[in-house]
Amino acid sequence: KAMGILKEFEEKCATPVAKLKQVADAMTVEMHAGLASEGKSPIWVFYLQHSDEEGVYYALDLGGTNFRVLRVQLGGKGVGLVNQEFTEASIPPNLMTGTSDALFEYIAAELAKFVAQEGPEYKLPPGRQRELGFTFSFPVMQTSITSGTLLRWTKGFSIDDVVGQDVVAQLSKAMQKLGLDMCVSALVNDTVGTLAGGRYNNKDVVAAVILGTGSNAAYVERAQAIPKWHGPSKSGDMVINMEWGNFRSSHLPLTDYDHAMDAEGLNPGDQIYEKMISGMYLGEIIRRVLLRMAVETAIFGDTVPPKLKEPFVLRTPDTSAMHHDASSDLKVVDNKLKEVLEISNTSLRVRKIIVELCNIVATRGARLAAAGILGVLKKMGRDTLKDGDQQKTVIAMDGGLYEHYTEFSKCLENTLEELLGEDVFKSIVIEHANDGSGIGAALLAASHSKYLEDQS
Ligand code: BG6
Ligand code: GLC
Repeated sequence: KAMGILKEFEEKCATPVAKLKQVADAMTVEMHAGLASEGKSPIWVFYLQHSDEEGVYYALDLGGTNFRVLRVQLGGKGVGLVNQEFTEASIPPNLMTGTSDALFEYIAAELAKFVAQEGPEYKLPPGRQRELGFTFSFPVMQTSITSGTLLRWTKGFSIDDVVGQDVVAQLSKAMQKLGLDMCVSALVNDTVGTLAGGRYNNKDVVAAVILGTGSNAAYVERAQAIPKWHGPSKSGDMVINMEWGNFRSSHLPLTDYDHAMDAEGLNPGDQIYEKMISGMYLGEIIRRVLLRMAVETAIFGDTVPPKLKEPFVLRTPDTSAMHHDASSDLKVVDNKLKEVLEISNTSLRVRKIIVELCNIVATRGARLAAAGILGVLKKMGRDTLKDGDQQKTVIAMDGGLYEHYTEFSKCLENTLEELLGEDVFKSIVIEHANDGSGIGAALLAASHSKYLEDQS
């Protein structure tokens, strides 16, 4: 009977190429709509291209699994990045659903600690403030390079009194309270930071994709292709933060488990695509299927294991480990079941069902993510080869899911090849941009430094 549930789930999760192409087309349509109408995502950010910044800049990275503070030293023209140093910590869970002051004061305190520990060589001349790129990886309506209001929380954060507020003002207030002499010179999304960081090293980088706790993409768009853009630089390039996590389409293969997870979560109705493809949710979908198997088919014995009833107890790193279990008796699966779900004495048959379940959920996620990338490539006109075209399209990728879940990233790349065909696929390079977003944010802080005019 458990097999019946598995088979039914597999059928509902199917992502044949024809369906993926419909998803990609729907994504492209949404992208056009987002560029035209004010209220809709995507949300744009003004992008200035520099490559000869010089000096010491800081970055703060909030929104991934870990929160990071980073300092980079830029050597100027022809030198580039001289050194970087960072610290990271996880955000205490109670702060994710607490108050605005508690969250921003915690972050500012971490920043102050970092600065307090640095050597005298980083002391700035009197009257000069330290400048910071703030990577804030949530949907923001950007009002300038140094301000933006939070539209809604995602990824397990839920702090009502920040929604509708300028997040830079909140951070600045907390820094001031601690007497930290620092200012935000650039507010960026992690996708935008990753794109800026990637492009600093390689001019062929035209898009960035995050596959981590959440998922999102940014790409380079010509300013004249953005009807809703009325600002300066009609001829220049802009970076579009798509917030693709919030994409939804009738072509997405949603199951009852997805609907239930969405309805019972912190942000029902939001981030539907993200909930099918990103690290925060894959494990939870699997838990829900396993729970149904436990209740209806007693796959774990007569009593339903109490742990299995706990939302989000099964994390994607756990299901990834089970999925990659290469041992003949599925030892890793056995250990994970014991350690995470307090379930012991499972048969090999049951463990095999679990591995297959992980495979179904990861495959659906990876293939849908590939469809999203196809949508972006289509919008950029990079899904076909023009005559004599030698152009490389480089996509900077980051996030724990992409980095650590090999079966997922392998499947994503294979699917992209399946969708594009071998020849076009050869012109696409997927580059892992490890912590590119922190460096990118510092670079954007440098290129938007308030002291730049003084220098010229
Ligand atoms: C990090 C980036 O490497 O990846 C962050 O610096 C980003 O900006 C993060 O948010 C996403 O990955 P995860 O898995 O930590 O959510
Ligand atoms: C969520 C956020 C988005 C971010 C993504 C990846 O989708 O809303 O801003 O880029 O996660 O971290």
